[in-house]
Amino acid sequence: MAFTEHEEKVSEFYSRVVDNNHDWNDGFLTFGLWKTKSGDPIPHPSCYGAVYDELLEGTMIQADHSVLDVACGQGAGMLRIKSQNGCNIQGLDISAANVEIAKRRLCDTGITVTRGSGTKMPYDENSFDCVICVEGEPHMNSREDFFREAFRVLKPGGKLFMADIVTLKALPDLSYLQQIILRTAAKLWVIPSTNLSYGIDDYKQKLKDIGFKLTKFEFLGDRVLPGYCNFNLTLSVMREQAKVRGPFVGYVGGPMIDIIVKMAFSHKIIEYVFVEAEKEFIK
Ligand SMILES: C[S@@+](CC[C@H](N)C(=O)[O-])C[C@H]1O[C@@H](n2cnc3c(N)ncnc32)[C@H](O)[C@@H]1O
Repeated sequence: MAFTEHEEKVSEFYSRVVDNNHDWNDGFLTFGLWKTKSGDPIPHPSCYGAVYDELLEGTMIQADHSVLDVACGQGAGMLRIKSQNGCNIQGLDISAANVEIAKRRLCDTGITVTRGSGTKMPYDENSFDCVICVEGEPHMNSREDFFREAFRVLKPGGKLFMADIVTLKALPDLSYLQQIILRTAAKLWVIPSTNLSYGIDDYKQKLKDIGFKLTKFEFLGDRVLPGYCNFNLTLSVMREQAKVRGPFVGYVGGPMIDIIVKMAFSHKIIEYVFVEAEKEFIK
């Protein structure tokens, strides 16, 4: 299957940051959930699986459910979901490197992983009871195309669960300094500008216009982003990253991204959200 130039760029980005010989963070690529709802710390590395756990808390995924993890990364989330619910789960991801690692991790589990895009999914309509996406949406060109595809492949009554990093306001509504911070973060993270062109209200509206009923929309930035950035900015983590990914990524590129993310959150430019949306029966 042919991918777009942007999708190949995202794939290259993950090839640079992914490491075949080290299982970082238990195989998760999420920011992590560093505090419980009551504010107690969640230690590393449990904080990564905690994102999937809390996103799906109380959702009653059952053994006969068909589940799709879009932007499944290296497959650790799918393994966790399958071990907890016994459901039939499969994954889709654009990164050739992540798909290879996920296939290796999942080789004896019956979980299949396909290289493909969340904006043009290789599945029939009405195929899944549940579509999950953890932190892949910002990369997609566009996020809205992913919403449309998720709607198409979900069965009526099926649910979309997302952990997403969103802009609170549209880019043109930000101050000049805020625009620079956001543009820099987006460039470093291979995020298309179209995903910055609307704020939180339009985000919700786009889901509704496609036919979703929003059943949950929750801000979790303060439990996710400072913990992630502070952890990455410790000298021991930088040293580890530098050993494996080279001194530039370890001491310069990685920390630069973390500092910018921290600034973007403290300036109220970005938020981290959990979203639950249902494909209604009649549309
Ligand atoms: C931050 S990682 C999260 C991975 C995984 N969900 C986890 O939590 O460990 C984002 C993932 O999104 C994937 N991705 C980006 N754009 C995509 C697209 N258009 N279609 C499918 N996957 C995509 C990347 O390749 C990457 O594996």
